[in-house]
Amino acid sequence: MSRILITSALPYINGIKHLGNLVGSQLPADLYARYCRARGHEVLFLCATDEHGTPAELAAAKAAMPVDAYCAQMHRTQAKLAAGFRLSFDHFGRSSSPQNHRLTQYFAGRLAENGFISEVSEKMVYSPADGRFLPDRYIEGTCPNCGYDKARGDQCENCTKQLDPTDLLEPRSAISGSTDLEVRETKHLYLRQSELKDELDAWIDSKSDWPVLTTSIAKKWLHDGDGLQDRGITRDLNWGIAVRKGEEDWPGMEGKVFYVWFDAPIEYIACAAEWAEAQGKDEEDWWRWWRTDAGAGDVRYVQFMGKDNVPFHTLSFPSTLIGSRDPWKLVDYIKSFNYLNYDGGQFSTSQGRGIFQDQALDILPADYWRWWLLSNAPETSDSEFTWEKFQAGVNKDLADVLGNFVSRVTKFCRSKFGEEIPAGGEVTPEGAKLIADLDARLAAYNGHMEAIEVRKAAAELRAIWVAGNEFLQTAAPWTSFKTDPERAAADVRLALNLIRVYAVISAPFIPDASAKLLESMQTDVTDWPESMGPALEVLAPGHGFAVPDTLFAKITDEQREEWESSYAGTRG
Ligand code: MF3
Ligand code: ZN
Repeated sequence: MSRILITSALPYINGIKHLGNLVGSQLPADLYARYCRARGHEVLFLCATDEHGTPAELAAAKAAMPVDAYCAQMHRTQAKLAAGFRLSFDHFGRSSSPQNHRLTQYFAGRLAENGFISEVSEKMVYSPADGRFLPDRYIEGTCPNCGYDKARGDQCENCTKQLDPTDLLEPRSAISGSTDLEVRETKHLYLRQSELKDELDAWIDSKSDWPVLTTSIAKKWLHDGDGLQDRGITRDLNWGIAVRKGEEDWPGMEGKVFYVWFDAPIEYIACAAEWAEAQGKDEEDWWRWWRTDAGAGDVRYVQFMGKDNVPFHTLSFPSTLIGSRDPWKLVDYIKSFNYLNYDGGQFSTSQGRGIFQDQALDILPADYWRWWLLSNAPETSDSEFTWEKFQAGVNKDLADVLGNFVSRVTKFCRSKFGEEIPAGGEVTPEGAKLIADLDARLAAYNGHMEAIEVRKAAAELRAIWVAGNEFLQTAAPWTSFKTDPERAAADVRLALNLIRVYAVISAPFIPDASAKLLESMQTDVTDWPESMGPALEVLAPGHGFAVPDTLFAKITDEQREEWESSYAGTRG
């Protein structure tokens, strides 16, 4: 048994997330957490909402709410949806927590003490009418490159050119529209990542087992053109974590907050502190997950994220941790994902394009989505959601293969032997072949789960379900029953036991269906099978069961067409 710390990238607070967000971090992280727990490891699985920055302020303004109230409400909404998808976080925290305020200020202080922070004077756009600086998206104007008149301070949407607020022609405030703007000098803090380049390089080189997608992105940022630039870690915003040096004021930084990408990953640590506090535990209880001087040397730390997050997790956040010169635990393995596209285009939160978590759960239970999304996870390349593929995947794998097996076996047994595990007979040659086949497949399945090869694991699980159906087909107990009922009893006994085994090993993918299967098999024996022979004898002759209701209903063509058209547009 080992200890495994698992974090999923923290979803932005600025709205309900779409299925692309879900499959790119939270859902595979949950799959892995459930698998590790089932294998007897001690797991701490953490996630939180990422609540600072201009997106949060702008979303709150759009909702006409104070930003703190908006974040509190949206956190509850996201937590409820996470529960709806059965994401088994040990804690779902908030980057705006007091714990994160303290830790973020602490890290900034340590970095300053160690010489990794520089104070830089910059020219920034100030709006007297709004009484504030206008960073990033708070300023609009005409693009100097293409003439588009709604370019934002960070980028022109029309020609994609990256801009600085001072580049814009005829600039105006995105808040008040005021054009009475001035350029003022103001001080900001920079994290001197470039000083840590060699340490980062060596650390990344030591990660020979990382997926190519992860290391290639990290190496590109470390060595290419722009390289590892020092990074501004403060902003002129109201909402955020006040810039302080540990517990002290930071002269010249009054009224400024840390940049959202500085404080968000620190929430991975703060979230463990929140978890400990919520459980009535002490500091040492979360330090044993996060401090190598307090036991975290034995922890394996695995992070899940979309590919756009990789630079922040391989370079910026490690710079914060290494630069503190404290023994914080660094990540051991990063699992990153490509994008899931929606019906020929991209999922988009800002354009409301695609299918969002709340909509998904309104139309079908979590397991349908979990199975399809995970078995089509965008691992080696981008993948695409279409309603047709979704219908085909669900109907074939869940209804025709798994659901059908369960229904045939339980109904046949009920009609011939009654609702209990039948006695008599010995393992048949077909049964022995099935057991050998499943032993090999289970080993492969375990291997893929341990390697976090999500699609391969799903394919192997599907093959395990298919093997059950093939066994039924060749053993044909409905035929043997007529001439050799003992033989039929032995095969049915094996098949009923297989339902329990399916429930156990499928639980990381489809936890609700698994629970339902265990309930109808009237058992709570959920040990992960070591070898199939003994695992398929757990339910002894005479043990009762009930025929479950339909496990998975098929998606009809009418349903598919209806959803296709109702989710074709964008939502407001
Ligand atoms: N909110 C970011 C995103 O959705 C992810 C933040 S991950 C963290 O892309 F580590 F920084 F928290
Ligand atoms: Zn432009």
